Formats: sequence, C-alpha cells, structure tokens
Amino acid sequence: MGGRETDLLTQLNLGPLWIPFTANRQFKQNPRLLVSAKDMHYMTHDGRQVLDGISGMWAVNAGHCRQPIVEAIQKQAQTLDYATAFQMHHPAAFQAAERLAAIAPQGLDHVFFTSSGSEAVDTALKIALAYHRVRGEGTRRILIGRERGYHGVGFGGISVGGMTGNRKAFGNMLGAVDHLPHTHDLDKNAFSRGQPQWGAHLADALENLVTLHDASNIAAVIVEPMAGSTGVLIPPQGYLQRLREICDKHGILLIFDEVITGFGRTGKAFAAQTFGVTPDLMTFAKAVTNAAVPMGGVMVKKGIYDAFMTGPENAIEFFHGYTYSGHPLASAAAVAALDLFKNEGLFERGESLAPYLADLVHGLKGLPHVIDIRNIGMVAGIELAPIPGKPGARAFEAFLRAYEKKNVLVRTTGDVIALSPSLIAEKKHLDEMVGAIADVLKTLP
Ligand SMILES: Cc1ncc(COP(=O)(O)O)c(C=O)c1O
Repeated sequence: MGGRETDLLTQLNLGPLWIPFTANRQFKQNPRLLVSAKDMHYMTHDGRQVLDGISGMWAVNAGHCRQPIVEAIQKQAQTLDYATAFQMHHPAAFQAAERLAAIAPQGLDHVFFTSSGSEAVDTALKIALAYHRVRGEGTRRILIGRERGYHGVGFGGISVGGMTGNRKAFGNMLGAVDHLPHTHDLDKNAFSRGQPQWGAHLADALENLVTLHDASNIAAVIVEPMAGSTGVLIPPQGYLQRLREICDKHGILLIFDEVITGFGRTGKAFAAQTFGVTPDLMTFAKAVTNAAVPMGGVMVKKGIYDAFMTGPENAIEFFHGYTYSGHPLASAAAVAALDLFKNEGLFERGESLAPYLADLVHGLKGLPHVIDIRNIGMVAGIELAPIPGKPGARAFEAFLRAYEKKNVLVRTTGDVIALSPSLIAEKKHLDEMVGAIADVLKTLP
C-alpha cells in the first residue's frame, strides 16, 4: 500500500455512507476510489491512472472535465445559483431545451426537465397517462414494459422494468402493468454483429397483450431501444419498427428510454435515429450534461404538448415537476455539452469509430468463457458463461482484475462485461481496453 493511499484512506471515514448498487461491506474492505479525471482517464486513490472504458457510466460522452463545460458551470454558479422552477424560470433552461429540440428525432420538439433518468421515466409514464385523460381516453391506464428492461429505480420505473433483482425486494409495484418478452436468445443470435437478424416477431407479443387487455385500456409501451443495463441487448432487425406499427394501429403511445442510448452512443444523436423509428416520447439523462451536473428529461411530440394546452390559460396544465427541473447549473452544463458535441462532431466521430470497436471486440470470440459478443455504435457487450451456482461472479472478477491489474475500468451486469467508451476515444484507447479484457479472460477461473 503506497503512502498516498494510506493517507487518503486514513483521513476518510467510510462508515456512514451507504453506497448504491454496491456490495458495501466488501467494498469498504478494499475500497476503489476515483479522485480526479481528465479526458479518457481517472486517477485512483492509490495514484494509478485508469482508462475509463465506460464513459463514467454511459454518460461522459465527451470525456472528463472538459473545459467549456467546467467554465459554463462555474460562470452559472456565480451568476444565478438557483431559480424557482415553478411559475418562474431562467434563460439557460430555454437554451438547453432549444438545443435538444434541434437534435431530437423529428417531431419531438418539447422538453420537460428532471434531474435523473429515473425521474425522467416516471415523468414520461405520467405524461402518457395524463395525455390520454386530457383527450377523454382515461381508461388507458395500463403501462407495458419489457422483461429485462431497466428504467431506473422509481416505483414507475421498477414496475415497467424487468430486472428481477431490482424488483423483488420491494413487492408493491404499480398494478396496471404488463411486460413484453425480452429479445435475448443465444441459440439464435449469439455473436451477431450489430442488429441480430432473428427476433422481430417478438414484437408481436404486443398484439397478444392488446387482445388480453384491450387497446382501450393500454396507455403506453416503454422500451430501451437498446437494453443497456441488463447487458447490452441490441434490438433485432425490424423489431422496433414492428412495435411502432402495432402501437400506431391501437393508439398506444411508444416511449423510448434513451437514458443510455442518447447523445451519440449508438452512432446518431439518439438510438431512435440510428434504428429509424420515432417514438412519441423519449427520456434522456446522463450525457445531456456530459454527466457534469445531474439532469434528465422527457422529449415529447408537439401533439402531446398541445393536448395539454387546452384549458383556461391561467390553469396549470400538468401537475408535475421537481424543485430542480431545469436547474440553472444543469442547464448551463447541458448547453455547453450540447455545443461541444456539435463543435467537435462527436456523434459522427463515434459513428466512424464504431466499426473499429466492433472488429476489436468480435476478435475476443474463442477466448475462454466467452459465449456471446454484441455491439452497436460505441457500445459492446461480452457475455461470459457463468460459474455454476454463482451468477455474475465471473464477470465481476473480470471487472476487478481489469481495474486492479490492467488499469482499465469496465462495467459488468450479470455475466456481461459492458463497454461504452467516450466518443473522444482514440484507437489506441480501444486497443488498450479490449486488449486488457483479452488478457483478463485468459486468467479467469
Ligand atoms: C435506460 C435507463 N433508464 C433509466 C435509468 C435511470 O437513470 P438514473 O440512474 O439517472 O436515475 C438508467 C440508468 O442507467 C437507464 O439505463
């Protein structure tokens, strides 16, 4: 243990903090602290430079501590730290909304701000329910999610979500919810490059749910266009198109949860554009501010916004919002981040690097334990065979070895290693990242 590590860890009291989605007791025995960051790298508490293979957490798409964003936040903090969001507002939120409308899929031209992806999801579900009600179709209450879906941790999000571990301890979900089947099938789709060919028909399960519940009772379908947190599940060719068609046929709103897929991750600004399917509502968060200040939100089609703008002009149209909706610091960071993405052509850069990343990760085929490799844009998933009786343990060990021995940060979920490097990555960073995984795979139990 180096001197620096001893100093920092003896100064810190690790006890009071309850760390999210983490094995707290294990972590506190052998903490992993990140103390600073620049561009593609972190510095760790024990003085190591670590390559960030996951853009923070699918979020720092322009690399860490970028100067224009840092300066915008500093300036905003000095000028206007906070302004009440209700019945008052401030300029930066309008500027951020305008920039978002400019890059969003066609027609999604209104923005409701939140502070996180989970809040964005709950907001989207509430807009969907209230939209049907303002139009006189208040029987449309059922929300349809998908198995293995991740939509954050609010009660709405876990209800429509489909990751068992995130649901089972809480019992009391929203009642009017149903789920589509997920699209993962190793027998049919293992080692597909980009979108798998098999699986569009799985969207037809929505027709079954319509038959079961009747369309007049269904408000919305929510899916991640690419399911990220469950382990990088790429939508089969034609699948999202099919969902769109069925929703249109039955007057059901289609919500894309683009919290991970937004801002250049899959090759275009949003996955809706990559896959050529436009939802009615779309959530975002994470990279909207390059993760420098928490922010999320929902983009909606004009027709949805307009449906609310009908009663008396002095009446609040939508009884929903957060103290920090469109917070000045978040809005300033969003404006700076969105300008940076544009000025540096980062979405295009990510799109042009994607084939290189795809070649590298698919080159891992044949290494020990690898049972599938998946990719789209600047995302890759490498699925490992689980250790019998210990699901997730093998991939977690890969994460630890990559971090401790190879100075590369990856992310794991179940037995999938997920990669999502920043769009500023250079080929040498991708080589280092995938090379580290190759080395680690050869040493794993
Ligand atoms: C698709 C999706 N929705 C929602 C969320 C929740 O976002 P947050 O953690 O900001 O609440 C996430 C987080 O990873 C996500 O991937």
